[in-house]
Amino acid sequence: MKFFADTADIDDIKELAATGLLDGVTTNPSLIAKSGRDFMEVTKEICSIVDGPVSAEVVALDHETMMKEAEVLRKIADNVCIKVPLTIDGLKTCKALTEDGTMVNVTLCFSANQALLAAKAGATFISPFVGRHDDNGFNGMELIEDIRLIYDNYMFETEILVASVRHVTHVLESARIGADVMTAPPKVIKALFNHVLTDKGIEGFLKDWQATGQSIV
Ligand code: G3P
Repeated sequence: MKFFADTADIDDIKELAATGLLDGVTTNPSLIAKSGRDFMEVTKEICSIVDGPVSAEVVALDHETMMKEAEVLRKIADNVCIKVPLTIDGLKTCKALTEDGTMVNVTLCFSANQALLAAKAGATFISPFVGRHDDNGFNGMELIEDIRLIYDNYMFETEILVASVRHVTHVLESARIGADVMTAPPKVIKALFNHVLTDKGIEGFLKDWQATGQSIV
């Protein structure tokens, strides 16, 4: 499963990229606003740090303006992936862009039927929001299971990009189900390293090592 970071924070992106774990980045208008940076400038910087897809979201609601915005965004770098909302205009834009060889991430997906539509429109990625699904009394991971089943039934190549990931269990379940990608805030990706027994083990080994009075370097 590929790991994308759901952030526009450059320090976090650099730190995760250095671990070799980072396969891409996703941003959205809220994350750009949180960064306090200029949209074009920060997206360009992210694209220079990460080799994989970097999602940059259009903000127009009509197809014509979405296409104009996409035109500007895709000039930022070769690894820009245009993010469009799951609406009729969004999917028209998805079809036009993917036919032209541009990567498209269809976002704000909350049902398996919506995911089916995005795949038929040729989406590179579909982003079902599991955390927001859970917040509203649904089961986000059941949504991922349904999409996996449907995509496999028809051999759609659209990659399932699990979004709105809130905790490490979402990551584990995504991998169990066979999602292609998950995008998570850096704090969730960093939390994957943690285990109380790892910390306890290090503590014990260091205590015993210090007692030997030896040093390696
Ligand atoms: O980038 C889209 C998605 O991951 C947003 O997550 O936590 O705002 O629901 P969240």
